[in-house]
Amino acid sequence: MPLIGLLCGSFRSESANQAVLNLIATNALKDSTYSTREICGLATLPTFRPEQVDSPPEVVADFRRQIDGVDGVIIAAPEYAAGLAGSTKNALDWLVGSSTLYRKPVAALSAGTTGGHHALHDLVHTLSWQGAWTFAVLGIAAPLPKMTNGAITHDATANEVASLTTKLVRAIREPGPSRRSALNSVVSTYGIDIERFGEVN
Ligand SMILES: Cc1cc2nc3c(=O)[nH]c(=O)nc-3n(C[C@H](O)[C@H](O)[C@H](O)COP(=O)(O)O)c2cc1C
Repeated sequence: MPLIGLLCGSFRSESANQAVLNLIATNALKDSTYSTREICGLATLPTFRPEQVDSPPEVVADFRRQIDGVDGVIIAAPEYAAGLAGSTKNALDWLVGSSTLYRKPVAALSAGTTGGHHALHDLVHTLSWQGAWTFAVLGIAAPLPKMTNGAITHDATANEVASLTTKLVRAIREPGPSRRSALNSVVSTYGIDIERFGEVN
């Protein structure tokens, strides 16, 4: 059964992005086709220092190990000032050069006021430049009215979240030529040439 790592780029106590990841974790308990594990420690990562890539601080090494230990990752990150939340970019920068994300199936989502278009653009580009395979993206606009007591309760949004998860799980479970077209259908939307990934199967 694929193990999906859940990485949240918001530390807000009532984070909408965390609420979406909580929904995915809850869904996993009812769906025996995948399981989830929270990726922890993003808030404690130091500012990226390129000279420490090969001998990083232990918190960074642990962060890399957590991602190495899962079959795929769903990253949920806010958009701040028309860009990806800096803490999330910093965390991804620590993975550059470690090949942690190379050929790792991922899904990217952003819950935020306008739907996280800029955050998703930044996420897909950064992930692709690290060799990760982004098989699904989802922007959730105006998330607060879609939540009750800190949980996603909006049916259409819950369905979109389930669909995002299904696409990632399917890509993990079914290696083969269909992966290339699934990846291309996402990255081409962001102007990324599928050829940069080399062989995808
Ligand atoms: C400093 C700041 C800048 C923001 N900039 C944007 C933005 O550019 N686009 C957007 O859609 N939402 C923006 N927002 C709203 C966030 O997307 C919204 O607060 C979202 O719920 C944050 O995610 P979280 O609930 O997981 O913490 C901004 C919020 C803050 C605090």
